[in-house]
Amino acid sequence: MSEPLLEIDDLTITFPGGKGQWPWQRQPDVRAVQQASLSIDPGETVGLVGESGSGKTTIGRAVLRFIQPASGTIRLGEFDVTGFGRTVPSPYRRAVQVVFQDPVGSLNPSMVVGDIIGEPLQIHFGMDASAREQRAGDLLEQVGLERHHLERYPYEFSGGQRQRIAVARALATEPRLLVLDEPVSALDTSTQSQVINLLDQLQRETGVAYLFIAHDLAVVRHISDRIAVMYHSRIVEQGESDLLCEEPRHPYTDLLLASIPDPDPVIQPGKSQRRRELTVGGELGATGNAPEQGCPFANRCAHVMDVCHDQFPEPFPFESGGEVRCHLHTTGPKLEGRPLRALATPTG
Ligand SMILES: Nc1ncnc2c1ncn2[C@@H]1O[C@H](COP(=O)(O)OP(=O)(O)OP(=O)(O)O)[C@@H](O)[C@H]1O
Ligand SMILES: [Mg+2]
Repeated sequence: MSEPLLEIDDLTITFPGGKGQWPWQRQPDVRAVQQASLSIDPGETVGLVGESGSGKTTIGRAVLRFIQPASGTIRLGEFDVTGFGRTVPSPYRRAVQVVFQDPVGSLNPSMVVGDIIGEPLQIHFGMDASAREQRAGDLLEQVGLERHHLERYPYEFSGGQRQRIAVARALATEPRLLVLDEPVSALDTSTQSQVINLLDQLQRETGVAYLFIAHDLAVVRHISDRIAVMYHSRIVEQGESDLLCEEPRHPYTDLLLASIPDPDPVIQPGKSQRRRELTVGGELGATGNAPEQGCPFANRCAHVMDVCHDQFPEPFPFESGGEVRCHLHTTGPKLEGRPLRALATPTG
């Protein structure tokens, strides 16, 4: 087996709390990510899913070294990312690139596409103007656009086309890892699948690995080899994509799956029913700061036990290479890595 490309180990990230009610008061620090471990192999796609505020973007930003974690380590190939000082080495900037959700905000509106894609070519390869034009044109064609688009401004393109330009710019440095933070969430469904197919194809052509962040499990499943599920600062389950979606081990993964709307009118009511069974305390997402000790899902979990409020469980590995962090697997019913459906529920 090959060495992982990216290794995130026991990562904790906090943000300073805001002002309190009185000038001398401060809110407690925000626990954005706690004890997260995740790896990505060369050329692999790992999806990171979870509801809004669960910490997905924060993990992505730590990998890009836009923020420094409170504890834990991040390693990419030969780079000790958490060991970097104030300045991030240029070879690392080259090795890890990012595409954001909003292609309008992330492309400089006053630059033509040729200059947008040309910039990293100049910075990282020192290419002269004609070499940049040649290479930028090649990259545009690779993402399904045309050479003459080099002369145009971002506003002249549709949302999907702008996202293709953002991908071309990211690939210009020939990165080993691309962090894709909700890259298709702002696009309509048919454009979404075109961009996803393009990303798939580009990965086959270039061997780049993806950390694919999204809140929509249906989108993530399609493109990912493996998926990590986050809930309120914690990675609660990770494993091979199809297996995780067909045989969830964590009650939150189960809930996330039941939350995917099904176009089939026969299946959909069953899913809504399942979602109600799985949720206690309403369908609202996590609120407030994540607990430091217990499982953050405890208040919503239909299977909650006393221990869940006191202690966040250690990872329980299962045979297919995945792992789950849930007391159901170690205490009480002792699922021991078996799918959640092995549990006898009151409704059968
Ligand atoms: N710069 C910051 N300062 C303070 N708190 C922050 C900061 N950035 C993120 N947070 C908090 O950290 C938590 C995780 O945020 P993050 O943006 O990583 O979530 P997310 O999973 O990407 O959500 P979304 O799906 O909405 O993008 C949230 O509670 C958020 O409010
Ligand atoms: Mg986010």
